[in-house]
Amino acid sequence: MPDKSTTSEAPNSKTPTLKLDDAKTNTAELNAAPVPSGPARKIYTIVKYGDPILEKPSNAISKFDAELAGLAEDMFATMYAAQGIGLAAPQIGKSIRVAVVDVTSGKNPEAKTVLVNPEIIHFEGEKREEEGCLSIPGFRGYVVRPQFVTLKAQDLKGEWFELRGEDLLARAFCHEIDHLNGILFLQHLSMLKRDMIRRKIKKLRKQGEW
Ligand code: NI
Repeated sequence: MPDKSTTSEAPNSKTPTLKLDDAKTNTAELNAAPVPSGPARKIYTIVKYGDPILEKPSNAISKFDAELAGLAEDMFATMYAAQGIGLAAPQIGKSIRVAVVDVTSGKNPEAKTVLVNPEIIHFEGEKREEEGCLSIPGFRGYVVRPQFVTLKAQDLKGEWFELRGEDLLARAFCHEIDHLNGILFLQHLSMLKRDMIRRKIKKLRKQGEW
């Protein structure tokens, strides 16, 4: 993958790069993809960069009840509506350690993964790919992540499980767990690149466009 360090804000890039929360490029037929049915779900407004909730560590979850299960479904609905492949609770304004991931964008129901109190327990290899984030729309950057990741997490019943991910899935796990620790992908970019994006966002905010 060539270094495109000067194209942080290239939402229309033709490159079929891997985008994280924001997966528009590899989900051309997303609108036709089946969205899980069931009761009508709440679509949350996604919190944008600048809100302090995105930069503080979230609290562990200890109550595994119907409310949590409902929240997870609402998070999937919110993520699919935003054409994302991962979403962490702080992004919907909740400082709790739950994230949802589906790198198939709703095409494979078995790919729907809820991670409660997740932690990376093993990683290996390195991959440098472009990432985006639903909370930082319109901006992307290359981030080095492990190629393989094993995490442990609890499911909606509180049962611990381990899960291994490779490439895009490993990247999604790292990106979402970062969110739960108050870390955004911007923090993995060079200072130069990060400052450039921050400046542009500040400008957008002044213009009332952020
Ligand atoms: Ni994100």
